[in-house]
Amino acid sequence: MSKRGLKRDWKRSMALRFDYNNMMSEYVGEKEGITTKEINSLKPYAVKALGNVIENRGKGWLGWTELPYNQNEVVKDIKATAQTIRKKAKNFVVLGIGGSALGPYAVFQALCHLHYNDLPRKDRKGPKFYVEDNVDPERMAALLDVVDPAETVFNVITKSGATSETMTQYLIIYDILKEKLGDKAAEHIVCTTSETKGNLIKLAKQEGFKTFYIPDGVGGRFSELCPVGLLPAAVLGIDLTELLAGAAYMDKSCLSAVINKNPALISAMLQYIAMKKGKNISVMMPYADSLKYFADWYAQLWAESLGKEIDRDSRIVNAGQTPVKALGVTDQHSQVQLYTEGPFDKVVTFLAVDKYRTEVKIPEGCKDIPDVHFLSGHTMNELISAERSATEYALTVKGRLNRTIFLPEVNAFTIGQLIAFFEYETAFAGELLNIDAYNQPGVENGKNATYALLGRKGYEEKKAELNLAKAKSSTYII
Ligand code: PA5
Repeated sequence: MSKRGLKRDWKRSMALRFDYNNMMSEYVGEKEGITTKEINSLKPYAVKALGNVIENRGKGWLGWTELPYNQNEVVKDIKATAQTIRKKAKNFVVLGIGGSALGPYAVFQALCHLHYNDLPRKDRKGPKFYVEDNVDPERMAALLDVVDPAETVFNVITKSGATSETMTQYLIIYDILKEKLGDKAAEHIVCTTSETKGNLIKLAKQEGFKTFYIPDGVGGRFSELCPVGLLPAAVLGIDLTELLAGAAYMDKSCLSAVINKNPALISAMLQYIAMKKGKNISVMMPYADSLKYFADWYAQLWAESLGKEIDRDSRIVNAGQTPVKALGVTDQHSQVQLYTEGPFDKVVTFLAVDKYRTEVKIPEGCKDIPDVHFLSGHTMNELISAERSATEYALTVKGRLNRTIFLPEVNAFTIGQLIAFFEYETAFAGELLNIDAYNQPGVENGKNATYALLGRKGYEEKKAELNLAKAKSSTYII
């Protein structure tokens, strides 16, 4: 077979599978389950949702839909820059928050060694990797205890170029760098920000920092496949071409007008119906440590995109579904009791892996203790898969809605698909809910209140508003 044919077959073998049997009434029962009738009644709205997304592809805030296709030039630049960083830096630190941090960390965890930073340099090949997404002073101090800024490249990521947390980190780090390295300090900063807006771009030009741009139509939580995520991934040695090819592969399926063949659309429809039935919580439970932080990335995408007070017609809707992160099997011993017997308010999404990157055999032992010995001869791979199936069964027989996304393997191609799947699911769910999935007025309000509290010019009115807040009563502080 030709190289192309082989590649096509490999891609097909790596396609994600979306199993939603256990969302349906035939499997979880009439009371909680979704019926074909309910899906059919929603079809006209789903067709409209798909039409809107297709019509606006690449426009406005749907710039992210084009990322798998329109970055050839920038990817070359990213790869070249990453190559230099891999050679010269001992550490690579992302300074960012929200969409500027969660994607890079999720992809790192998914595609690098699970103890990457502890590996010897020769096995790691790239620098140690840190994502600093908080302004906890202890965390900053702790980072500086383990990395020498002079041996480190800092990637300052902020779309708005204005986020207080990230700019604070920048101020601290650049001050140290200038103190230590003088004229050479700028070589240790790479910026990823908007080309036209915000303060970081101004600083980047003034100081001569290497800079990558976040395209205008790509919001923070939809930015993993632009330079926000691609530069850290390239520094870690992750194959960007495969990551983007995976996203393109999923993109094609998500444009299918045949609803049953469009995984993200059917998934959004099921979540929409579930929300209407009072399932206010969306649990993501990967059965793989490599996907643990994917659940964090998803949590932001789903929460910030769908959690809205008003719809597009300015009606108060208070929409959204609360994302919860869990890890299989670890959380079987903490949260699953609640999922199986607590309120009927959840949809559980399992992420399952067909073939883990390694196999660990359970050796012969404890022959005299049958309750332990039964494990011998199996593998940990069999054990984790059996536990996932068992949890799925336990939820299903108790009438709990659940669905599973199977990854044939965890690799750059399947992770690209997974990112695109959830981005499309979110976009379609936003359409069905008739809300703006791309703004975040609630977050902005908090950001503005912080500026006011710290005395930023232009926020005097906000400060006055905060001063009017009801004073706390000592009765309720004990
Ligand atoms: O999704 C979003 O837009 C937000 O969560 C942002 O990612 C977050 O607030 C950080 O913003 P910025 O990248 O502008 O610093």
